[in-house]
Amino acid sequence: MRILSGIQPSGRLHVGNYFGMMDPAIHLQDDGEAFYFIADYHSLTTVHSPEELRENVHNVAVDFLACGLDPIKATFFRQSDVPAVAELSWLLSTVTPMGLLERCHSYKDKTARGHEATHGLFAYPVLMAADILIYDSDIVPVGEDQKQHLEVTRDIALKFNNRFGEVLVIPKPKIREVNAKVPGLDGKKMSKSYGNTLEIFGDEKATRKKIMSIVTDSTPVEAPKDPADSIIMDLYRLVASDAEIATMENDFKTGGCGYGDFKKRLFSAYWEFFKPMRERREELLADPGQVDKILRQGASRARETAAKTMERVRKACGIQ
Ligand code: TYM
Repeated sequence: MRILSGIQPSGRLHVGNYFGMMDPAIHLQDDGEAFYFIADYHSLTTVHSPEELRENVHNVAVDFLACGLDPIKATFFRQSDVPAVAELSWLLSTVTPMGLLERCHSYKDKTARGHEATHGLFAYPVLMAADILIYDSDIVPVGEDQKQHLEVTRDIALKFNNRFGEVLVIPKPKIREVNAKVPGLDGKKMSKSYGNTLEIFGDEKATRKKIMSIVTDSTPVEAPKDPADSIIMDLYRLVASDAEIATMENDFKTGGCGYGDFKKRLFSAYWEFFKPMRERREELLADPGQVDKILRQGASRARETAAKTMERVRKACGIQ
Protein backbone atom coordinates (compact mmCIF):
# COMPACT_ATOMS: atom_id res chain seq x y z
CA MET A 1 0.00 0.00 0.00
CA ARG A 2 1.40 3.40 -1.00
CA ILE A 3 0.49 6.37 1.20
CA LEU A 4 1.17 9.92 0.01
CA SER A 5 0.59 13.43 1.25
CA GLY A 6 2.00 16.93 0.83
CA ILE A 7 2.18 20.15 2.75
CA GLN A 8 2.81 23.65 1.44
CA PRO A 9 5.78 25.67 2.73
CA SER A 10 3.72 28.83 2.88
CA GLY A 11 4.43 29.72 6.52
CA ARG A 12 4.90 28.12 9.92
CA LEU A 13 3.01 24.86 10.48
CA HIS A 14 0.04 25.04 12.79
CA VAL A 15 -2.03 22.81 15.03
CA GLY A 16 -4.59 22.32 12.19
CA ASN A 17 -1.85 20.92 9.93
CA TYR A 18 -0.67 18.72 12.79
CA PHE A 19 -3.97 17.08 13.72
CA GLY A 20 -5.51 17.15 10.22
CA MET A 21 -2.61 15.68 8.30
CA MET A 22 0.78 15.30 10.00
CA ASP A 23 -0.31 13.12 12.91
CA PRO A 24 -2.37 10.72 10.72
CA ALA A 25 0.47 10.61 8.18
CA ILE A 26 3.02 9.83 10.90
CA HIS A 27 0.84 6.97 12.17
CA LEU A 28 0.37 5.60 8.66
CA GLN A 29 4.12 5.39 8.01
CA ASP A 30 4.04 2.04 9.84
CA ASP A 31 1.25 0.64 7.67
CA GLY A 32 2.71 0.91 4.19
CA GLU A 33 5.16 2.66 1.92
CA ALA A 34 4.80 6.34 2.77
CA PHE A 35 5.77 9.27 0.53
CA TYR A 36 5.54 12.72 2.13
CA PHE A 37 6.67 15.89 0.42
CA ILE A 38 6.98 19.64 0.76
CA ALA A 39 4.86 21.22 -1.99
CA ASP A 40 7.15 24.09 -3.01
CA TYR A 41 5.86 24.28 -6.62
CA HIS A 42 2.36 24.78 -5.22
CA SER A 43 3.38 27.46 -2.77
CA LEU A 44 4.80 29.60 -5.60
CA THR A 45 1.17 30.51 -6.27
CA THR A 46 1.21 32.55 -3.05
CA VAL A 47 4.83 32.94 -1.83
CA HIS A 48 6.79 35.28 -4.08
CA SER A 49 10.03 35.83 -2.19
CA PRO A 50 12.78 33.29 -3.02
CA GLU A 51 14.45 33.76 0.38
CA GLU A 52 11.15 33.24 2.17
CA LEU A 53 10.41 30.11 0.14
CA ARG A 54 13.83 28.57 0.92
CA GLU A 55 13.46 29.36 4.60
CA ASN A 56 9.91 27.97 4.72
CA VAL A 57 10.98 24.71 3.04
CA HIS A 58 13.72 24.25 5.61
CA ASN A 59 11.36 25.03 8.50
CA VAL A 60 8.68 22.63 7.27
CA ALA A 61 11.29 19.88 6.89
CA VAL A 62 12.62 20.43 10.42
CA ASP A 63 9.14 20.70 11.93
CA PHE A 64 7.74 17.59 10.24
CA LEU A 65 10.78 15.54 11.28
CA ALA A 66 10.55 16.91 14.82
CA CYS A 67 6.90 15.83 14.98
CA GLY A 68 7.84 12.22 14.24
CA LEU A 69 8.18 11.70 10.51
CA ASP A 70 10.73 8.91 10.30
CA PRO A 71 12.88 9.25 7.14
CA ILE A 72 13.82 5.57 7.31
CA LYS A 73 10.20 4.45 7.14
CA ALA A 74 8.89 7.28 4.93
CA THR A 75 10.34 8.85 1.80
CA PHE A 76 10.49 12.57 2.62
CA PHE A 77 11.33 15.00 -0.17
CA ARG A 78 10.81 18.35 -1.82
CA GLN A 79 8.23 18.35 -4.64
CA SER A 80 10.51 20.29 -7.03
CA ASP A 81 13.24 17.65 -6.68
CA VAL A 82 11.05 15.51 -8.95
CA PRO A 83 10.49 17.82 -11.94
CA ALA A 84 8.74 14.99 -13.84
CA VAL A 85 5.68 15.89 -11.77
CA ALA A 86 5.38 19.13 -13.78
CA GLU A 87 5.48 17.10 -16.98
CA LEU A 88 2.74 14.79 -15.73
CA SER A 89 0.73 17.83 -14.71
CA TRP A 90 0.79 19.02 -18.34
CA LEU A 91 -0.19 15.61 -19.68
CA LEU A 92 -3.09 15.44 -17.23
CA SER A 93 -4.20 18.95 -18.13
CA THR A 94 -4.89 17.74 -21.68
CA VAL A 95 -7.68 15.50 -20.36
CA THR A 96 -8.95 17.85 -17.63
CA PRO A 97 -12.28 19.55 -18.41
CA MET A 98 -12.28 23.30 -17.65
CA GLY A 99 -15.59 22.92 -15.82
CA LEU A 100 -13.98 20.57 -13.30
CA LEU A 101 -11.46 23.24 -12.28
CA GLU A 102 -14.02 26.06 -12.45
CA ARG A 103 -15.99 24.33 -9.71
CA CYS A 104 -13.05 24.21 -7.26
CA HIS A 105 -13.65 26.24 -4.08
CA SER A 106 -10.03 26.95 -3.29
CA TYR A 107 -9.45 29.00 -6.48
CA LYS A 108 -12.63 30.99 -5.86
CA ASP A 109 -11.74 31.55 -2.17
CA LYS A 110 -8.18 32.61 -2.87
CA THR A 111 -9.05 35.06 -5.65
CA ALA A 112 -11.89 36.44 -3.51
CA ARG A 113 -9.29 37.09 -0.79
CA GLY A 114 -7.17 39.13 -3.21
CA HIS A 115 -4.73 36.56 -4.64
CA GLU A 116 -3.87 37.22 -8.27
CA ALA A 117 -5.99 35.07 -10.59
CA THR A 118 -3.07 33.26 -12.25
CA HIS A 119 -3.13 30.11 -14.34
CA GLY A 120 -1.01 28.42 -11.62
CA LEU A 121 -3.68 29.06 -9.01
CA PHE A 122 -6.40 27.84 -11.38
CA ALA A 123 -4.48 24.71 -12.41
CA TYR A 124 -3.36 23.97 -8.82
CA PRO A 125 -5.56 20.83 -8.55
CA VAL A 126 -4.01 19.37 -11.72
CA LEU A 127 -0.51 19.60 -10.23
CA MET A 128 -1.91 18.07 -7.08
CA ALA A 129 -3.35 15.20 -9.14
CA ALA A 130 0.08 14.72 -10.71
CA ASP A 131 1.67 14.58 -7.22
CA ILE A 132 -0.66 11.80 -6.23
CA LEU A 133 -0.74 9.83 -9.46
CA ILE A 134 2.99 9.89 -10.22
CA TYR A 135 3.67 7.74 -7.13
CA ASP A 136 0.79 5.28 -7.78
CA SER A 137 -0.68 6.35 -4.43
CA ASP A 138 -3.44 4.28 -2.88
CA ILE A 139 -4.19 6.39 0.21
CA VAL A 140 -3.91 10.15 0.67
CA PRO A 141 -4.34 11.39 4.26
CA VAL A 142 -5.51 15.03 4.24
CA GLY A 143 -7.76 17.44 6.12
CA GLU A 144 -11.30 18.14 4.97
CA ASP A 145 -10.32 21.25 2.96
CA GLN A 146 -8.45 19.02 0.47
CA LYS A 147 -11.36 16.65 -0.14
CA GLN A 148 -12.53 18.36 -3.33
CA HIS A 149 -9.00 18.27 -4.75
CA LEU A 150 -8.90 14.52 -4.20
CA GLU A 151 -12.22 14.08 -5.96
CA VAL A 152 -10.80 16.09 -8.87
CA THR A 153 -7.72 13.83 -8.84
CA ARG A 154 -9.90 10.75 -9.14
CA ASP A 155 -11.90 12.31 -12.00
CA ILE A 156 -8.74 13.26 -13.88
CA ALA A 157 -7.23 9.78 -13.40
CA LEU A 158 -10.41 8.15 -14.69
CA LYS A 159 -10.45 10.48 -17.75
CA PHE A 160 -6.83 9.63 -18.48
CA ASN A 161 -7.43 5.90 -18.15
CA ASN A 162 -10.53 6.14 -20.34
CA ARG A 163 -8.52 7.74 -23.06
CA PHE A 164 -5.25 5.80 -22.80
CA GLY A 165 -5.99 2.51 -20.97
CA GLU A 166 -5.50 1.40 -17.34
CA VAL A 167 -2.33 3.40 -16.70
CA LEU A 168 -3.00 5.30 -13.48
CA VAL A 169 -3.89 4.00 -10.01
CA ILE A 170 -7.13 5.53 -8.69
CA PRO A 171 -6.41 6.83 -5.14
CA LYS A 172 -8.66 7.07 -2.08
CA PRO A 173 -8.73 10.06 0.27
CA LYS A 174 -8.30 9.25 3.95
CA ILE A 175 -10.01 11.86 6.05
CA ARG A 176 -10.46 10.98 9.70
CA GLU A 177 -13.80 12.00 11.14
CA VAL A 178 -12.00 13.54 14.10
CA ASN A 179 -9.82 16.58 13.50
CA ALA A 180 -10.55 16.85 9.77
CA LYS A 181 -11.36 20.51 10.38
CA VAL A 182 -9.50 21.92 13.37
CA PRO A 183 -10.91 25.30 14.45
CA GLY A 184 -8.73 28.37 14.75
CA LEU A 185 -8.63 30.87 17.61
CA ASP A 186 -11.72 32.62 16.22
CA GLY A 187 -13.74 29.42 15.68
CA LYS A 188 -13.38 29.43 11.87
CA LYS A 189 -11.24 26.68 10.28
CA MET A 190 -7.63 27.16 11.42
CA SER A 191 -5.78 28.59 8.45
CA LYS A 192 -2.77 30.80 7.72
CA SER A 193 -4.96 32.86 5.45
CA TYR A 194 -7.44 33.65 8.24
CA GLY A 195 -4.68 34.70 10.66
CA ASN A 196 -6.23 32.51 13.39
CA THR A 197 -3.50 29.91 13.82
CA LEU A 198 -1.79 28.39 16.79
CA GLU A 199 1.68 27.41 15.59
CA ILE A 200 3.08 24.01 16.56
CA PHE A 201 6.41 25.61 17.47
CA GLY A 202 5.29 29.08 18.42
CA ASP A 203 7.29 31.21 20.82
CA GLU A 204 6.13 30.64 24.43
CA LYS A 205 5.20 34.21 25.28
CA ALA A 206 3.50 34.95 21.94
CA THR A 207 1.52 31.70 22.06
CA ARG A 208 0.35 32.34 25.61
CA LYS A 209 -0.78 35.80 24.51
CA LYS A 210 -2.64 34.34 21.52
CA ILE A 211 -4.47 31.84 23.71
CA MET A 212 -5.29 34.41 26.39
CA SER A 213 -6.82 36.67 23.73
CA ILE A 214 -9.36 34.09 22.46
CA VAL A 215 -12.65 35.98 22.40
CA THR A 216 -15.31 34.55 24.75
CA ASP A 217 -18.85 35.55 25.74
CA SER A 218 -19.68 37.51 28.89
CA THR A 219 -20.99 34.61 31.04
CA PRO A 220 -19.93 35.45 34.64
CA VAL A 221 -17.36 33.32 36.48
CA GLU A 222 -19.91 31.67 38.78
CA ALA A 223 -22.36 30.72 36.01
CA PRO A 224 -22.30 27.32 34.24
CA LYS A 225 -20.97 27.33 30.68
CA ASP A 226 -21.55 25.02 27.71
CA PRO A 227 -18.44 22.91 26.95
CA ALA A 228 -19.95 21.88 23.61
CA ASP A 229 -19.91 25.49 22.44
CA SER A 230 -16.40 26.63 23.28
CA ILE A 231 -13.29 27.03 21.12
CA ILE A 232 -11.16 26.74 24.26
CA MET A 233 -12.68 23.33 24.97
CA ASP A 234 -12.37 22.23 21.31
CA LEU A 235 -8.65 23.02 21.29
CA TYR A 236 -8.14 21.55 24.77
CA ARG A 237 -9.61 18.23 23.60
CA LEU A 238 -6.76 17.97 21.08
CA VAL A 239 -3.91 18.38 23.53
CA ALA A 240 -5.10 17.39 27.04
CA SER A 241 -5.37 13.92 28.62
CA ASP A 242 -8.78 12.24 29.00
CA ALA A 243 -8.80 12.98 32.76
CA GLU A 244 -7.96 16.67 32.19
CA ILE A 245 -10.70 16.93 29.57
CA ALA A 246 -13.28 15.37 31.91
CA THR A 247 -12.29 17.78 34.71
CA MET A 248 -12.53 20.84 32.51
CA GLU A 249 -15.88 19.75 31.03
CA ASN A 250 -17.17 19.35 34.55
CA ASP A 251 -15.85 22.78 35.58
CA PHE A 252 -17.62 24.31 32.57
CA LYS A 253 -20.92 22.72 33.56
CA THR A 254 -20.84 23.47 37.27
CA GLY A 255 -19.66 27.08 37.04
CA GLY A 256 -17.24 28.79 39.40
CA CYS A 257 -14.35 28.95 36.92
CA GLY A 258 -13.77 31.81 34.48
CA TYR A 259 -12.63 31.67 30.88
CA GLY A 260 -9.23 33.10 31.91
CA ASP A 261 -8.60 29.98 34.00
CA PHE A 262 -9.67 27.67 31.14
CA LYS A 263 -7.34 29.50 28.77
CA LYS A 264 -4.42 29.04 31.19
CA ARG A 265 -5.14 25.30 31.32
CA LEU A 266 -5.30 25.22 27.51
CA PHE A 267 -1.91 26.90 27.23
CA SER A 268 -0.23 24.52 29.66
CA ALA A 269 -1.71 21.41 27.99
CA TYR A 270 -0.64 22.72 24.56
CA TRP A 271 2.88 23.51 25.82
CA GLU A 272 3.22 20.07 27.43
CA PHE A 273 1.84 18.21 24.39
CA PHE A 274 4.45 19.58 21.99
CA LYS A 275 7.35 19.49 24.49
CA PRO A 276 9.04 16.30 23.21
CA MET A 277 8.73 17.59 19.64
CA ARG A 278 10.30 20.93 20.66
CA GLU A 279 13.24 19.05 22.11
CA ARG A 280 13.70 16.96 18.97
CA ARG A 281 13.46 20.13 16.91
CA GLU A 282 16.33 21.73 18.84
CA GLU A 283 18.51 18.73 17.96
CA LEU A 284 17.60 18.99 14.29
CA LEU A 285 18.24 22.73 14.21
CA ALA A 286 21.71 22.09 15.56
CA ASP A 287 22.50 19.91 12.53
CA PRO A 288 21.07 21.48 9.33
CA GLY A 289 23.25 19.22 7.14
CA GLN A 290 21.31 16.21 8.42
CA VAL A 291 17.99 17.67 7.22
CA ASP A 292 19.39 18.44 3.75
CA LYS A 293 20.74 14.90 3.52
CA ILE A 294 17.35 13.39 4.43
CA LEU A 295 15.63 15.45 1.71
CA ARG A 296 18.30 14.54 -0.88
CA GLN A 297 17.97 10.83 -0.14
CA GLY A 298 14.18 11.08 -0.22
CA ALA A 299 14.33 12.89 -3.57
CA SER A 300 16.38 10.17 -5.13
CA ARG A 301 13.94 7.45 -3.98
CA ALA A 302 10.97 9.52 -5.15
CA ARG A 303 12.56 10.16 -8.57
CA GLU A 304 13.06 6.41 -9.09
CA THR A 305 9.40 5.65 -8.37
CA ALA A 306 8.19 8.57 -10.49
CA ALA A 307 10.38 7.49 -13.42
CA LYS A 308 8.60 4.12 -13.59
CA THR A 309 5.15 5.72 -13.74
CA MET A 310 6.30 8.29 -16.31
CA GLU A 311 7.59 5.57 -18.60
CA ARG A 312 4.14 3.93 -18.57
CA VAL A 313 2.38 7.27 -19.00
CA ARG A 314 4.57 8.51 -21.88
CA LYS A 315 4.20 5.22 -23.74
CA ALA A 316 0.44 5.19 -23.22
CA CYS A 317 -0.06 8.64 -24.70
CA GLY A 318 2.42 8.23 -27.55
CA ILE A 319 5.24 10.58 -26.67
CA GLN A 320 7.71 7.76 -26.31
P1 TYM B 1 -1.80 22.67 3.11
O1 TYM B 1 -0.35 22.98 3.10
O2 TYM B 1 -2.76 23.81 3.06
O3 TYM B 1 -2.17 21.83 4.40
C1 TYM B 1 -1.47 20.64 4.74
C2 TYM B 1 -2.44 19.64 5.35
O4 TYM B 1 -3.00 20.18 6.56
C3 TYM B 1 -4.43 20.04 6.51
N1 TYM B 1 -5.05 21.15 7.26
C4 TYM B 1 -6.01 20.98 8.18
N2 TYM B 1 -6.61 19.87 8.66
C5 TYM B 1 -7.55 20.04 9.63
N3 TYM B 1 -7.91 21.24 10.12
C6 TYM B 1 -7.33 22.38 9.68
N4 TYM B 1 -7.69 23.55 10.19
C7 TYM B 1 -6.34 22.28 8.65
N5 TYM B 1 -5.57 23.19 7.98
C8 TYM B 1 -4.79 22.47 7.12
C9 TYM B 1 -4.79 20.11 5.03
O5 TYM B 1 -6.03 19.53 4.77
C10 TYM B 1 -3.63 19.33 4.41
O6 TYM B 1 -3.88 17.95 4.42
N6 TYM B 1 -2.80 21.26 -1.54
C11 TYM B 1 -2.23 20.79 -0.31
C12 TYM B 1 -0.79 20.32 -0.46
C13 TYM B 1 -0.62 19.28 -1.50
C14 TYM B 1 -1.05 17.92 -1.40
C15 TYM B 1 -0.68 17.32 -2.65
C16 TYM B 1 -1.72 17.17 -0.43
C17 TYM B 1 -0.04 19.45 -2.71
N7 TYM B 1 -0.05 18.28 -3.41
C18 TYM B 1 -0.95 15.97 -2.90
C19 TYM B 1 -2.00 15.82 -0.68
C20 TYM B 1 -1.62 15.24 -1.91
C21 TYM B 1 -2.26 21.96 0.68
O7 TYM B 1 -2.30 23.09 0.31
O8 TYM B 1 -2.14 21.62 1.98
